[in-house]
Amino acid sequence: MTDEAPPRRRVAIIGAGPSGLAQLCAFSSEKDMQLVCFEKQSNWGGLWNYSWRTGTDEYGNPCSNSMYRNLWSNGPKEGLEFSDYTFEQHFGSPIGSYPPRSVLLDYIEGRAKQYNVRSHIRFSTIVRDVRTCSGAFEVTSRNECTDVESTEVFDYVIVATGHFSVPNVPEFPGFANHNSGIRILHAHDFRDAREFTGANVLIVGSSYSAEDIGSQCWKYGAKSIVLSHRRSGPLGYKWPENWKEVPQLERISEGKTAYFIDGSSSTVDAIILCTGYKHHFPFLSDELRLKTTNRLATTNLYKGVVWNDNSALFYLGMQDQWYTFNMFDAQAWWVQGCIMGRIQLPNTKQDMIQDVVDRQAAEDAIVDDYGAIAYQGAYTKELMDEITTTDSNYPTFDVEATNVAFYEWKKSKRTGFMGFRDGGHTSPMTGTKSPAHHTKWKEALDDSLDTYLGN
Ligand SMILES: Cc1cc2nc3c(=O)[nH]c(=O)nc-3n(C[C@H](O)[C@H](O)[C@H](O)COP(=O)(O)OP(=O)(O)OC[C@H]3O[C@@H](n4cnc5c(N)ncnc54)[C@H](O)[C@@H]3O)c2cc1C
Ligand SMILES: NC(=O)c1ccc[n+]([C@@H]2O[C@H](COP(=O)([O-])OP(=O)(O)OC[C@H]3O[C@@H](n4cnc5c(N)ncnc54)[C@H](OP(=O)(O)O)[C@@H]3O)[C@@H](O)[C@H]2O)c1
Repeated sequence: MTDEAPPRRRVAIIGAGPSGLAQLCAFSSEKDMQLVCFEKQSNWGGLWNYSWRTGTDEYGNPCSNSMYRNLWSNGPKEGLEFSDYTFEQHFGSPIGSYPPRSVLLDYIEGRAKQYNVRSHIRFSTIVRDVRTCSGAFEVTSRNECTDVESTEVFDYVIVATGHFSVPNVPEFPGFANHNSGIRILHAHDFRDAREFTGANVLIVGSSYSAEDIGSQCWKYGAKSIVLSHRRSGPLGYKWPENWKEVPQLERISEGKTAYFIDGSSSTVDAIILCTGYKHHFPFLSDELRLKTTNRLATTNLYKGVVWNDNSALFYLGMQDQWYTFNMFDAQAWWVQGCIMGRIQLPNTKQDMIQDVVDRQAAEDAIVDDYGAIAYQGAYTKELMDEITTTDSNYPTFDVEATNVAFYEWKKSKRTGFMGFRDGGHTSPMTGTKSPAHHTKWKEALDDSLDTYLGN
């Protein structure tokens, strides 16, 4: 008999999207860990697991998924590729650089199957409450199929629930009392651009949802697109003729007229609020809950992942994102190294706080998107370098070559927005340059997996 405390081995992962799956893959060789991954949807893949539902899911919970039917990757796939599971390996031959969602989901699933992690996931199980208890965590979840709630104790909790699920919904004067039939919705509830064929569409916001949902509506035959920007100014791309950019929306009134702060106006049939999302974690008790804006150096997370007030709690993928799947992977392997005791935390909480202060100061000094890409690449490399000092098996990759794919993408968007997805980039993993897709993006109305792959 020994008096030694048993090793802390019970790990709860919340969410089976790209981040949660990365965490499961990272733990796959640790046979003694008790891993439970809670996923409220009935399948894995996170928001890549498209759902037609909006509002509430089949069990009355808020619908997390912001994915829409005809979404294609908005960044080059070469920027998110896994080094231990390349696109070429998965699909058997090179494919285009900007695949539709079904193709990316297929790739995510292929990687997860290779690591054989599905048995750890409890599907249709929503985490409702997480709180600390005697140095551990009590996690309360509800299996929605059996309608049974249970509370279990874990030594570590890893929050991988994403942060593009709970919409930020501003209200503008006239929204509440107009009676002209204008359809008003947030990007979170946008599913199919065909709904807006023939319509004059006003997009509020000037970031990725705005440019992409506007493009979708244009592609599927909207009559006109008006894109209203706020602080960041106009996007300034070469848009089609029936597309214009205007300043901030002021109000809607007099039938279907939208007025902007410069005094101009437009007739609109629909308003799509592409106004971003909130970091929202209602299942976490106050002292565990991340509160941050959407930025590269997230508040109160040491190395972007460890909760500074309780180092047994981790968050994955909470940053604003240029890098995605491969950054979540580096975070997940780093967290695994930390939990297994191979990677050490600083001696004091003050050092962890200072890490965040330094990262935020460096982020604040970034002058443009190229700097932001380089910043997040360097962050990912920093994690990978720390992992590889204690784990030589980690599938690292060439961050500089990945940055190049992002830089090329940024430039190609400037040469004509509706054509940027027709170009190809070089895989940092295989060195293969992606071929042009068989159909130009603006003409590819059927973007199912089979059609895309030419099966
Ligand atoms: C519309 C849209 C398009 C995007 N397109 C791209 C793109 O083209 N390329 C790119 O690289 N990135 C894109 N992104 C960024 C996206 O954040 C990442 O690709 C990726 O999906 C993030 O993975 P995640 O696992 O962190 O979060 P998610 O994919 O959101 O997965 C989180 C999972 O947690 C589950 N969950 C949430 N709450 C609970 C709970 N309480 N209990 C149990 N389970 C829970 C959810 O059901 C979900 O399955 C896009 C984002 C949006 C919103
Ligand atoms: N095809 C794709 O792959 C695709 C498509 C859509 C989204 N995405 C991903 O989804 C994520 C989220 O992107 P996002 O565009 O939804 O969010 P975002 O990048 O956070 O941008 C939010 C936008 O809303 C504006 N905004 C916020 N509040 C506003 C208000 N009260 N009034 C007017 N404007 C307001 C912001 O303007 P200010 O600049 O003035 O603050 C900004 O332009 C990104 O990671 C993106 O890559 C990908």
